[in-house]
Amino acid sequence: MGFLEAVEILSRRAGIPVPERRPGERGKRAGLLEALELAAVAYEQWLADPARGAIARAYLDRRGIARDTVKAFRLGLAPAGWENLAERLRGKVGEDVLIEAGLVARRDGGRGVYDRFRDRLMVPLCAPGGEVIGFGARALGDDLPKYLNSPETAVYRKGSFLYGFDQARRAPGADQELILVEGYFDAIALHQAGLRNTVASSGTALTTEHAKLLRRVTARVALTFDGDTAGREATLRSLGVLLAEGLDAMVVDLPAGEDPDTFVRNGGTAGWAQARAAAQDPVGFIRQHIFRAHGPGDPREQALQATVRLASGVSDPIRHRLLLERAAGAFGVGLPVLARAVALQRSGGPADHAVRGVVHRQRGQERSIERKLLRALLIAPEALDRVRTRSSPEDFHDPECRELADWLWQGRDPLAAEDAPGPLARELRASEGADLDWDAEAMGAVRRLQERRVREELLDRRNRLSHAAGDETARLMQEIDGLARMLRELSA
Ligand code: UTP
Ligand code: MN
Repeated sequence: MGFLEAVEILSRRAGIPVPERRPGERGKRAGLLEALELAAVAYEQWLADPARGAIARAYLDRRGIARDTVKAFRLGLAPAGWENLAERLRGKVGEDVLIEAGLVARRDGGRGVYDRFRDRLMVPLCAPGGEVIGFGARALGDDLPKYLNSPETAVYRKGSFLYGFDQARRAPGADQELILVEGYFDAIALHQAGLRNTVASSGTALTTEHAKLLRRVTARVALTFDGDTAGREATLRSLGVLLAEGLDAMVVDLPAGEDPDTFVRNGGTAGWAQARAAAQDPVGFIRQHIFRAHGPGDPREQALQATVRLASGVSDPIRHRLLLERAAGAFGVGLPVLARAVALQRSGGPADHAVRGVVHRQRGQERSIERKLLRALLIAPEALDRVRTRSSPEDFHDPECRELADWLWQGRDPLAAEDAPGPLARELRASEGADLDWDAEAMGAVRRLQERRVREELLDRRNRLSHAAGDETARLMQEIDGLARMLRELSA
């Protein structure tokens, strides 16, 4: 707010009389805010009106929104009809101001105005100080668009607005973590469930301005996303923006088909606590959702590219280093290689190419161990029983090797298969040649696969431990202890 406004507000709060500013002096901003406030009050009254508000109140009841929540968020109703608001504010607010506030539009032909919002549930958008600066207007049925929002005005800019911020920043624990959701109703539902440190990005891509605003009040953001591809891509982009502004970020995964609203309505805060405890840090998120995905392209390469892009935006040297160390561990690549790729990315160089090279080399190494084990099993099938107790086909990263392992583990004979994995099996079998102790070869190779898996699990648990609380901490420490012992035994 401007200086004069601040003086006015503080004076009023302190009970000091404020001289009226003459209309000419009065800021345009103050005029718009006054119009928006009057509109919000009108919408609230229409919602409370026994007859006019009945359908909208029933809608809110169906969605489990309590009276207190309606009040706290100042939800309202724009009744059907073209001039309810224009009529109500006539004489109180000039037409030009109403137009500039985005509340009405001028009729074609120039005479008179009509309401922008009609027959919709009104969600006031409030500035960090609580002033109404615009509205999101939800259809009460299946009308499109679902939301009609205020246009950008002198007081409302979408790129810097976070819904619920005013309340969230005062919530207990907000300085440690804010929960970031997409929808107005997600934020409302979480607040109602007691998770008052929640803000919504209103369905737009997160901007640097949003991140700066968050940074002013909190250290960490817990992002929740829709479990679909679009949601995941949006999450990756948002992570980049948050990390670049020096915020910590965690990603909370919800079960498929749920959004935060339905999720807390069904599972309450306990359900949320569980999902939050299982949250992933950025690298964990990338690993879980890209590395293990079965989409087109090489998932490991995509995961590393995503990590390199993420890291290249992080300028703080310590955070940058931590992120790369974590990624190096999670994806099993060397730190210097990653650092080089980031440097290339930053200078506009061929970072993609560098990453591809690393992945290629690494895949070669991994595959050679997996092939070694499979070859030994094909030549000395009696080793299979012992190998089977120590590893499973999931331990194979190379898809072809994994398929062949699947066959062997199931006791099927791959050598007889015409299609995959037949050709690979015959190729490995044919390279027999050297007179090795195949049993010992198999046991050596399976031990290296085990080591690789335990290392991965250990990293995952250590990473979770750094964000865990309560019972979860003790459980993770126990797991880490066990895994570390296993690793020592394996490499002994
Ligand atoms: P959602 O569709 O997830 O909204 O869109 P929601 O708030 O959860 O709505 P319900 O639960 O269906 O009532 C996320 C956000 O995207 C913006 C809004 O800010 C919405 O809250 N949005 C969505 C629009 O601006 N216009 C639209 O037509 C749809
Ligand atoms: Mn929703």
